[in-house]
Amino acid sequence: MSFGLRRRHESRELRMPPAHRRNIGMSIDEAAARLCRAQIGKRVIHLESVASTNDVAWEEAERGAPEGTVVVAEEQTAGRGRMSRKWHSPPGLGIWTSVVLRPDVSPENAASLTLCASVAVAKAVRSLCPVNVSLKWPNDVMVKGKKLCGILTEIKFGGGRIDFLVCGIGLNANQRVQDFPAELAQSATSIFMATGKMVNRGELFLAILRHFEKKYREFCRNGAASCLDEWRSMCPLFGKRVRVKGRRGAVEGVFFNIDDNGALLLRLDSGVHRSFLAGDVEPVS
Ligand code: BTN
Repeated sequence: MSFGLRRRHESRELRMPPAHRRNIGMSIDEAAARLCRAQIGKRVIHLESVASTNDVAWEEAERGAPEGTVVVAEEQTAGRGRMSRKWHSPPGLGIWTSVVLRPDVSPENAASLTLCASVAVAKAVRSLCPVNVSLKWPNDVMVKGKKLCGILTEIKFGGGRIDFLVCGIGLNANQRVQDFPAELAQSATSIFMATGKMVNRGELFLAILRHFEKKYREFCRNGAASCLDEWRSMCPLFGKRVRVKGRRGAVEGVFFNIDDNGALLLRLDSGVHRSFLAGDVEPVS
């Protein structure tokens, strides 16, 4: 979780992408039209090229955009991830989208909402593609140990409550290995790389937002518990020995649990439990 940067964004009008990146089947705009009665996606802002959809969604939220406003772009020129990392977002090959939410929950609950979003993305991918997705704390959707999707939630607080949050989802859909920069070649994957088949981005976008809406409603009605149970069942490192790398170094222990706020509880060799709200987890053999 991090605070939003209020950078100015650039956006251009949509124009037809080159043929090799053209989406066959449902377009993003057709998917958006099907969401007109939904809570998440009743308003979709579809842009060709922006610095970051999170920036645009943040600015919209500052101007009072209602909950469920969605920004989606064909390309991001300065997409960003957790811990100030860059998020590679080439034109027409992935889902780069951000959702404005205004949940009536305390700030501590926001991290578990991000975990619910990753459950929604995993279920959406599974519903459309024959691919064995799993989850990695805090918010990665993985295939065979490589990253398929990341989620970046940025929050504006006001009076001790959440004013709004922007949940940004980056999902690699149709990249080939050569579409990733060299430094991501070992760690990133796409649905195309995992299945050998192109996926229709409109259908994927629609499925993600529909699953997200379902999880979000559950979260608002009943809290994070049922979502977190699903999250645990999709996380192969749960109960295993792991290393958690944070800003202050690395710690080893057993991935003991996720608490109701989405924090990772690590059982150290001393038997003491330590809680993490941020960091990177890797298996220890
Ligand atoms: C991570 O795994 O570090 C999170 C990556 C989040 C990327 C998405 S793409 C849409 C939205 N806009 C951004 O700049 N970032 C998020």
